[in-house]
Amino acid sequence: MDLSGRIESAISRAIAEGQAGAAPPKLASALDYALSPGGARIRPRICLSVALACGDGQPELADAAAVAIELIHSASLVHDDMPCFDNADLRRGKPALHKAYGEPLALLTGDSLIVAGFEVLARAAHHDPQRAIELIRILGVRTGMPYGICAGQGWESEDKIDLSAYHRAKTGALFIAATSMGAVAAGQEAGPWEELGDRIGEAFQVADDLKDALLDEAEMGKPAGQDAANSRPSAVAELGVAGAVQRFKDILSGAIASIPSCPGEAQLAQMVRVMSERLIPEPARQAAE
Ligand code: IPE
Ligand code: IPE
Ligand code: MG
Ligand code: MG
Repeated sequence: MDLSGRIESAISRAIAEGQAGAAPPKLASALDYALSPGGARIRPRICLSVALACGDGQPELADAAAVAIELIHSASLVHDDMPCFDNADLRRGKPALHKAYGEPLALLTGDSLIVAGFEVLARAAHHDPQRAIELIRILGVRTGMPYGICAGQGWESEDKIDLSAYHRAKTGALFIAATSMGAVAAGQEAGPWEELGDRIGEAFQVADDLKDALLDEAEMGKPAGQDAANSRPSAVAELGVAGAVQRFKDILSGAIASIPSCPGEAQLAQMVRVMSERLIPEPARQAAE
């Protein structure tokens, strides 16, 4: 099965688990709404690509890791769009979940998806309990405080934002989870793979800033111009469009150089190159020429 097939079928299984039995129908439907159709699925792709580069000796664990990350990511988007955060009406080209189901169910959908992420890993643990415990630990670190998404979102409530800590926790954390969990699922140590995730996360944030500044709502499937509207610091505000594109390229070459030696190193480097080509929006590419 190709990467998309592995990811989508594992996500469908997780949704079905959450909807089983006497589940309250609206919340059960909201789980599906939050996950399908999904976005680019970039984090689970990275996770599985790293697992494959390391030999993919335990594919069930790699699939569980990939899905767990996407569940947490989707939860973070549901919560992020709520009025108490970014108050955004559109996500992945359709009404944000709280717009479609109301705030109480949006809060509960995010909560349920976070819990489901850890459950998926626990359910796959019998394949290799030692690795599963490490996967659960890493996902916890990259989701909560002080290094995870919660910390990242928490910086927005501070008077003075530590920009690097903010981006690393808000966006970078799940990319670090993606590379290190892919490696752990395949029997490798997490440590050597953290730099790759960290750098991809940094590059992704720059690309996201470029999209936010240059694309419109229809192209992005979510509100545009949010960084400027919310006075958030961004790579475009700091460096201009051409400067941000250059920064993206510099970070990316560092990312590729950081790939630890492994059987599928060359293929993984190629995957990172192709993936990043797609991240830079066309108007930014033109402006940088
Ligand atoms: C959006 O992430 C949130 C950020 C961290 C900037 P993605 O752009 O990966 O969102 P989807 O999953 O493809 O919708
Ligand atoms: C969302 O960050 C990332 C989360 C950790 C939830 P943003 O608020 O910058 O991303 P978008 O623009 O809503 O996708
Ligand atoms: Mg936000
Ligand atoms: Mg937002």
